[in-house]
Amino acid sequence: MTGLPPLTEAPNPVRELSEEALRSRAAAALERARARSTALTAAVDDDDLVRQHSKLMSPLVWDLAHIGSQEELWLVRDVGGREPLRPDIDDLYDAFQHPRATRPSLPLLGPAEARAYVAEVRAKAFDVLERAPMTGRPLTEAGFAFGMITQHEQQHDETMLATHQLRKGDPVLHAPAPPPARSGPLPGEVLVPAGPFVMGTSLEPWALDNERPAHEVDVDAFYLDTVPVTNGAYVEFLEDGGYDRRELWSAAGWDYRTEHDITAPRFWRREPDGWWRVRFGVHEPVPADQPVVHVSYYEAEAYARWAGKRLPTEAEWEKAARFDPATGESRRYPWGNDDPTPEHANLGQRHLSPAPAGAYPKGASALGVHQLIGDVWEWTSTDFAGYPGFRAFPYREYSEVFFGPEYKVLRGGSFGTDAAAVRGTFRNWDYPIRRQIFAGFRCARDAAPGERA
Ligand code: AVJ
Ligand code: FE
Repeated sequence: MTGLPPLTEAPNPVRELSEEALRSRAAAALERARARSTALTAAVDDDDLVRQHSKLMSPLVWDLAHIGSQEELWLVRDVGGREPLRPDIDDLYDAFQHPRATRPSLPLLGPAEARAYVAEVRAKAFDVLERAPMTGRPLTEAGFAFGMITQHEQQHDETMLATHQLRKGDPVLHAPAPPPARSGPLPGEVLVPAGPFVMGTSLEPWALDNERPAHEVDVDAFYLDTVPVTNGAYVEFLEDGGYDRRELWSAAGWDYRTEHDITAPRFWRREPDGWWRVRFGVHEPVPADQPVVHVSYYEAEAYARWAGKRLPTEAEWEKAARFDPATGESRRYPWGNDDPTPEHANLGQRHLSPAPAGAYPKGASALGVHQLIGDVWEWTSTDFAGYPGFRAFPYREYSEVFFGPEYKVLRGGSFGTDAAAVRGTFRNWDYPIRRQIFAGFRCARDAAPGERA
């Protein structure tokens, strides 16, 4: 025997909560999400709410009513067993029936109607929550459906935030600047020793279907960047001719770069005195110490090759984020098993940008990797697929229909992701060409045989 601790998923504090505590947790999470949806839609006038700011996005008023529609479907009708409020609009707000580009031409609810609708649905959902059992069927176990609908609203809130970023005009959203760097000097990379760890979860009550079940994955030794790639580092790549050097790009990446004449991250422009960006309507010099954001997978891949590195796989990312070699446990978050606080990570749109590298020493993982949660979504080299034993729940259209090589997995959440909608196991996915999302990356490289701890 080797004396190594057995591999396990860390004990989950949410599982200890009483039914009353679970109900309060669900109610608080729903309220938080609604406060955010309200703020994002109150920031602009009604004309702006019904306008399409980009072909990539829905009008904000579509997101709002869609949030209500999903809540009606799952909380009011399914969990609550109540009568439908608006069966006539189910189809309008079914994301699979109408692609984003066509949504503005639909007979959508207007701003006032949409607001009244979501408020009516919410009142009914709270009524259901008061009596809902927190056990009995999978959909109600530990309040899962309430957690799912909270996360759904927060996901659309992040999408609405991306719409705000695409919107032209003066700033309408305001928030304090992120905290400064406060770690001491950090090493550039961390060695993650070889060996298996528990990936995914079978214990997190509100984990979504694609995060399940927990399973062991063996990972070779590798080095991972301690922090995400910063704007300052990215400018070096750019000014070293990174966008013009064919050999740094994959075939698909080069085609994409060439076809769209991409020469810098989205929202950047070159001025005589350096690189500038527009961020929620504010024009500002690109801050060198913040993680780069608004880059596609292909740009991340080219940067990594330029740096003599590669992107991490999804399993590598999760091991660096969750695994504690001292205990053999996979934690809920890099810092442990307690929910995020503002000391741990830049989440929840508290700030309207990523924070400088080194801003969250308390959020570091057991292995010493920083800012894995919050700031920017991180591209991984892994295609989106189900884990061994995956079962679609409660509907195939959340994850399963997206499994396949056209989507890359992103991890960790961004400054625009709420704490309720991200954790060490959370999986996001998107097309490798996407740049309007709040995505950046960090690099990895193989450890040479002599360096494998
Ligand atoms: C998990 C962020 C890729 O926004 O397309 C929202 C989440 N699913 N409504 C998306 C989602 C259904 C999804 N992502
Ligand atoms: Fe949705």
